[in-house]
Amino acid sequence: MKIAVLPGDGIGPEIMAQAVKVLQRLVRDGLKFELEYAPIGGAGFDACGDPLPEATLKLARQADAVLLGAVGGYRYDKLPRQQRPERGLLRIRKELGVFANLRPALVYAELAHATTLKPEVVAGLDIMILRELTGDIYFGEPRGRRTNAKGEREGFDTMLYSESEIRRIARVGFDIARKRHRKLCSVDKANVLETSQLWREVVSEVGKEYPDIALSHMYVDNAAMQLVRNPKQFDVILTGNLFGDILSDQASMLTGSIGMLPSASLDERSKGLFEPIHGSAPDIAGKNIANPLATILSAAMMLRYTCNLEETAQRIEQAVKKVLAKGLRTADIFQEGTRKVGTEEMGDAVVDAL
Ligand code: IPM
Ligand code: MG
Repeated sequence: MKIAVLPGDGIGPEIMAQAVKVLQRLVRDGLKFELEYAPIGGAGFDACGDPLPEATLKLARQADAVLLGAVGGYRYDKLPRQQRPERGLLRIRKELGVFANLRPALVYAELAHATTLKPEVVAGLDIMILRELTGDIYFGEPRGRRTNAKGEREGFDTMLYSESEIRRIARVGFDIARKRHRKLCSVDKANVLETSQLWREVVSEVGKEYPDIALSHMYVDNAAMQLVRNPKQFDVILTGNLFGDILSDQASMLTGSIGMLPSASLDERSKGLFEPIHGSAPDIAGKNIANPLATILSAAMMLRYTCNLEETAQRIEQAVKKVLAKGLRTADIFQEGTRKVGTEEMGDAVVDAL
């Protein structure tokens, strides 16, 4: 397996170092990885003036999988859009065609009290948000800025989905539901948006091929409300790029910390890009306090989805559970009675548990 390792910015390099430690530990058990590093985001801009340097994209295309840290930093906030770190991330997703973004939200028993909600609302929660990742208002054209007839500045974007884009993500959603509890809730804003009306129509059509899956539809505003009211009603949530971005951050807080949540972004052949769902957290970068578990768990998702190593993926997930059960916590999930550890120590503990 050749893995492109793109640590990125902020806490990216620190958390990635821990995931790499975990992969290296597995090498001792006979797995073969070739890791190759490349810059992305602000680091790409610093190295080559481009948040997605040519060489990085080339490496990502050649690799069997891409493991990514996070991008973004204050220093880059004033750059023009094309050069901003986020642009590098959006481009690599688009260029690799990783349209299916799996964002599991799982509440570990040990962390049920870390949530800001009532523990009983989230205890045992296990939902999968499937976010379409390469379409929607993120990429729709035209977009831009202009001056209107009144001499006022205007900004505009285009929300757009084609039938084929909706159909392929819907299929992934139904397939995932089939391996879980056979419930799929498609989230849209079909009471207002044309895009969403087509979305609902196409998802329903695909649903006819999956009579064993209970399909429901929900408006996104209601979904946001239901996610905090009674999140356990959901199994798989299928939604577009923008709604998925928002709902997955919200769902992360059900689990106590966004620092715990991994993600997988897959193309048609399940090759993928794996990254924590949190950002680069420049405010805590370099302090050895960031939670590396989301990145470590992203590496586990890589082993599951791209390498077909389900058992090894589970071994990592079990190791993370063990470390939590032992009471080790980074600052974001710390609570009275547990032991606060830094990024490095958390990574080492997972390696030990393995
Ligand atoms: C995410 C992030 C990105 C997105 C940003 C950094 C461009 O919020 O992965 O959820 O909006 O997709
Ligand atoms: Mg987001």
